[in-house]
Amino acid sequence: MRVSSRLGRLRPYLFAELNRRRDELLARGVRVLDLGIGDPDLPTPDHVVEALCNAAYDPETHRYPPYEGTSEFREAAAERYARLGVELDPQSQVLAVIGSKEGIAHLAWAFIEPGAIALVPDPGYPVYSAQTLLCGGDVFPLPLLAERGFLPDLDAVPPEVAARARILFLNYPNNPTGAVADLAFMERAVAFARRHDILLCHDAAYLDISYDAPAPSVLQVPGALDVAVEFYSLSKPFNMTGWRLGFAAGNRDAVAALAKVKNNTDSGQFTAVQRAGVAALRETDPEFSRRMLGVYRRRRDFVVDALNAAGWAVPRPPGAFYVFAPVPAGHTSASFSTMLLEQAGVVVSPGVAFGPSGEGYVRMSLTTPEPVLAEAIERIGALLRGERKELPRKG
Ligand code: MLT
Repeated sequence: MRVSSRLGRLRPYLFAELNRRRDELLARGVRVLDLGIGDPDLPTPDHVVEALCNAAYDPETHRYPPYEGTSEFREAAAERYARLGVELDPQSQVLAVIGSKEGIAHLAWAFIEPGAIALVPDPGYPVYSAQTLLCGGDVFPLPLLAERGFLPDLDAVPPEVAARARILFLNYPNNPTGAVADLAFMERAVAFARRHDILLCHDAAYLDISYDAPAPSVLQVPGALDVAVEFYSLSKPFNMTGWRLGFAAGNRDAVAALAKVKNNTDSGQFTAVQRAGVAALRETDPEFSRRMLGVYRRRRDFVVDALNAAGWAVPRPPGAFYVFAPVPAGHTSASFSTMLLEQAGVVVSPGVAFGPSGEGYVRMSLTTPEPVLAEAIERIGALLRGERKELPRKG
């Protein structure tokens, strides 16, 4: 058996790798506290679950779904953007995806080929780079540095790189840094994409998780529909990571190109899940979103304040549900995350796994109940104070 040489360009998927290391410790009987993946711990709203149950009993949903997504789901998606002041044609400018990870991956197949470049935030969600490499393209990292508010310096992209670039990936509120971009930055990004004839792909998975002011959609920039496509995910705002539902919205040609890849690859998301998605988009009380934001804000403030009190200087992120913390002196992101895992039984993500500029950081996810966060902080504090304890065993 000979696997494709393309696979040689990929590293193991970060979160699968973290799960593997967590499971090894669990198998040794350790009570592991997982601040690794960003996977909301609170339940999907009841009305969404009920919509799924009702839809699952309707035999109409048991057949293949429409390739581009149901009309109702695409209309509900367009209404979501109308609330931001963005008018979308649900037929030609919206496409259902099986989670934005799937959509982003297939978008790369529509635009990247050998010789082409993707401009990729560094650190960034690993899927942008991995799919670019699978397609035979090259990754040009855009460093996201704390001193620039974790925004890339688009003016620093060399002209010969911009000339070969097909996609500019952006993601705000940002994973892993927690940074939020303002509309002025989005305007500059749209202008850059237009100037260089590049598709701007904005991953808006955390659009609804911005603590100080609403985060902008790139589609709110006048003229963005000429050059941009945005991925909206139902995973994070409605606690639906397991459901695999999102949509692409934006430029007609980009949406059509993505649909062509998808139609030849998958058969769409279960219609019952799309009906539940309609319930999420149309019927969720805004109070639910405010409550969720309140939960993550409390967790963020607790973790940041407690770590600072323990002598570890950690900044307070304005968005997403991650704390991106510079590692203490003398450590790399890998050595520190390994120490936390092996000596405190706490899983965090090493920043370097999100790209070379993530070196020197670890990412902690806030999608964990408060008592678990408190225990994790307590264990980390003890480790930092040099009070080594036995790894706690499962009770
Ligand atoms: C993360 O932890 O970065 C995300 O939850 C992973 C994902 O959205 O696929």
